[in-house]
Amino acid sequence: MNRLNGKVAIVTGASSGIGRATAKLFAAEGAKVVVGARRQAELDSLVDEIKASGGDAVAIAGDVRSESYHKALVAAAVERYGKLDVAFNNAGTLGEAGPSTGVSEAGFAEALTINLTASFLAAKHQIGQMEKNGGGSVIFTSTFVGYSFAFPGVAAYAASKSGIIGLTQALAAEFGQQKVRVNAILPGAVDTDMYREMNDTSDKQSFITNLHALKRVAAPDELARSVLYLASDDSSFVTGTASLVDGGASITRT
Ligand SMILES: NC(=O)c1ccc[n+]([C@@H]2O[C@H](COP(=O)([O-])OP(=O)(O)OC[C@H]3O[C@@H](n4cnc5c(N)ncnc54)[C@H](OP(=O)(O)O)[C@@H]3O)[C@@H](O)[C@H]2O)c1
Repeated sequence: MNRLNGKVAIVTGASSGIGRATAKLFAAEGAKVVVGARRQAELDSLVDEIKASGGDAVAIAGDVRSESYHKALVAAAVERYGKLDVAFNNAGTLGEAGPSTGVSEAGFAEALTINLTASFLAAKHQIGQMEKNGGGSVIFTSTFVGYSFAFPGVAAYAASKSGIIGLTQALAAEFGQQKVRVNAILPGAVDTDMYREMNDTSDKQSFITNLHALKRVAAPDELARSVLYLASDDSSFVTGTASLVDGGASITRT
């Protein structure tokens, strides 16, 4: 408890899955949380849940493709809670999947915009604010796909998500002296809407499950706990990392 006491955090992709679980854990650990995604009703119910548990959160709905949305999230943190310490930039999309020879330019570009450009725009506005209060922690959601694992038919997703690792390293090097830490989390398969959309048959789910040494996929809470580590002072000497939380998928050949 209280590992984020007195901290102010932004969590994007908070309407469901990993982001929702992380926003709830951040609040339970004492952070005041600005939650973002496009679906207002899901954000409102999250804020209600957090408040019912004694926490504090505010919902700002919007689309991460828009730079002004990132400004609005930071402004909400500052206006409502006075500062910004932690940002979990987690909103993401699978993008246009299928044989790469058939993927449209627009479909490829959309994955890059939502997964990679939006991550950059978020950090661009968050870091300046963190510097004002002596540092902070920025965390991006990448994935094992395109890093330690490759699947056919997800080129746009893999390219956009592996781009986040380069972004993480560049920003960590640039802002380390200002005490802003920047890390990426690389989940294996996590049981969320995105996972179920991608793996819509029991055969696909068995195949994915078997890729992991633990022979199961993760619950969103398990990712949230790893994000909490990167957000909190427990990881005070950790920056620039691509942090696998993948149930051993990267080392499994059975
Ligand atoms: N599940 C897995 O196996 C897995 C594995 C590795 C990495 N990841 C990554 O984990 C992150 C979270 O995904 P999840 O698995 O938790 O799936 P999810 O439940 O489908 O969550 C995706 C989140 O991203 C938000 N989002 C998508 N496009 C957006 C946009 N244009 N603007 C604002 N918000 C947007 C969605 O909210 P709205 O629809 O309300 O906008 C939702 O909150 C993603 O970056 C994903 O790539 C997932």
